[in-house]
Amino acid sequence: MVPLSFFFLAACTPFFTGLVKHTGGCHCGAVRFEVWASADLHIFDCNCSICKKKQNKHFIVPASRFKLLKGADSITTYTFNTHKAQHTFCKRCGVQSFYSPRSNPGGFGIAPHCLDEGTVRSVVVEEFNGSDWEKAMKEHKTIKNMSKE
Ligand SMILES: *[C@@H]1O[C@H](CO)[C@@H](O)[C@H](O)[C@H]1NC(C)=O
Ligand SMILES: *[C@@H]1O[C@H](CO)[C@@H](O)[C@H](O)[C@H]1NC(C)=O
Ligand SMILES: *[C@@H]1O[C@H](CO)[C@@H](O)[C@H](O)[C@H]1NC(C)=O
Repeated sequence: MVPLSFFFLAACTPFFTGLVKHTGGCHCGAVRFEVWASADLHIFDCNCSICKKKQNKHFIVPASRFKLLKGADSITTYTFNTHKAQHTFCKRCGVQSFYSPRSNPGGFGIAPHCLDEGTVRSVVVEEFNGSDWEKAMKEHKTIKNMSKE
């Protein structure tokens, strides 16, 4: 028999780990998601060729902490170069509210500016030198870990 404490732990894990549930989506409302992350967000401001044009600020979470609530049919995906990053965006309003970054193909990059209000306590913005992507990745100590469970 599974001990009761197991269910208690499973239900309370987000509280123990200090995560909160953020919700968000695109502009027209077709795409909606929820994501468990800290209330204190660590945001990357990348300037690789596409991030620069999109002003793509994002925080990174493991895939298991992200859930698409609606809009799978409304999402289209742009890829280029290595085709590792999946630049998903709403095909109706054009807003990229989340995507799968080249740095963390096993996770998601969430646009903090697409979250609903009320769950973010603080933000730290770190510049990521995407204009020299390989070097920046090699030198960065923690970005790869951000999509690990
Ligand atoms: C990209 O950002 C870095 C800082 O992270 C800066 O040193 C570099 O000049 C920027 N490159 C371009 C092309 O904007
Ligand atoms: C970012 O990369 C560019 C291009 O290689 C380089 O000129 C610049 O010095 C780098 N900036 C930082 C802060 O490392
Ligand atoms: C990141 O993950 C690697 C490999 O799992 C580990 O060796 C390293 O200590 C982690 N770094 C941090 C800052 O958690």
